[in-house]
Amino acid sequence: MKVLVTGGAGFIGSNFVHLTLATRPEVEVTVLDALTYAGSTASLAGVMDRVTFVEGDVADAPLVDRLVADADVVVHFAAESHNDNSLEDPSPFVRTNLIGTFALLEAARRHDVRYHHISTDEVYGDLELDDPKKFTEDTPYNPSSPYSSTKAGSDLLVRAWVRSFGLRATISNCSNNYGPRQHVEKFIPRQVTNVIDGVRPKLYGAGLNVRDWIHVDDHNEAVWTIVDRGTIGETYLIGADGEVNNRDVVRLILELMGQDPDAYDHVTDRAGHDLRYAIEAGRLRTELGWAPRYGSFREGLAATIDWYRDNEAWWRPMKDATEARYARTQQVVA
Ligand code: NAD
Ligand code: DAU
Repeated sequence: MKVLVTGGAGFIGSNFVHLTLATRPEVEVTVLDALTYAGSTASLAGVMDRVTFVEGDVADAPLVDRLVADADVVVHFAAESHNDNSLEDPSPFVRTNLIGTFALLEAARRHDVRYHHISTDEVYGDLELDDPKKFTEDTPYNPSSPYSSTKAGSDLLVRAWVRSFGLRATISNCSNNYGPRQHVEKFIPRQVTNVIDGVRPKLYGAGLNVRDWIHVDDHNEAVWTIVDRGTIGETYLIGADGEVNNRDVVRLILELMGQDPDAYDHVTDRAGHDLRYAIEAGRLRTELGWAPRYGSFREGLAATIDWYRDNEAWWRPMKDATEARYARTQQVVA
């Protein structure tokens, strides 16, 4: 089987490539990645000689057509992925997330190639802290940010291509991932690398916002489960019942790193900050038999902290520029 992995030099995509090569020797992997600020061939260290790596843009329709024509399956991870960046400049989000997805869908349609679309729970908007309901496949779309609205738009393109053109596609919407090789702009790596540097973690607002954490390998196992056994045209939510508020995550990071759990700062809140995400992954569990392997967030987080301690050469080149960008918009408030 030949699989085209877009965004395979980013966080989740590179972990997907490592997992695939470790567990599926029959799969040939081609990676298409533009190597934006968020992508690096360093994330494919150790496997670059086992993949065909193409540096290029998912919005480049002729390039995409050629690569999709040669694939049996496309797994589309490539995206502009960070909410804070989308508030500063939405334009690359529209281009990559919408135009890029459009180019892939058209190529998959022309060549009748199986397509799996990676998306996010953020398309559903947010929940109140005390809402007993979680997101399900039937929750109406209600995205908040330029990032999540472009992801929502890309999902709707996929659904239209399934219905109008019979595209053999599935969609997954996953909750917040953590694990190795995540860019230091994101919440957990930012705080872990801050603590390594002797800098206090930075909590947006009161820190009561809740995210539903899942280990990246559990996400990627679920993606393979859907590619293998998912029903064409269906959407599957991926989550591992990992709800924690941001303050508790920061306190746990500090504790695991041997620091005072109260040694963090509150900084300017994110505009339009979604309050809570929570996933009901019943369809994936009961219909397709998937279950997460990482039972304990504490253990998964401790292993992730170890990875950042052991791989400073991977994250150090991006740290200063990331913090300089945050310093332009965020002030310590408490
Ligand atoms: P990331 O920002 O770490 O990686 C994105 C990758 O896409 C990078 O390698 C980048 O170079 C590449 N890319 C960006 N624009 C491109 C373009 N125009 N052409 C080709 N490549 C391009 O993102 P991530 O966190 O790994 O997210 C991957 C996917 O998973 C995204 O679709 C995101 O919406 C989705 N997702 C992420 C999470 C999460 O918690 N991180 C959760 C659910 C869903
Ligand atoms: O839910 C899935 C989504 O999770 C994905 O679609 C996105 O690609 C991914 O970036 C992530 O979005 P979030 O906005 O939830 O992730 P982020 O890591 O940016 O922030 C997580 C929470 O932590 C959020 O409530 C904001 C807060 N935060 C973030 C940073 C960077 C802080 O309190 N301090 C910080 O320094």
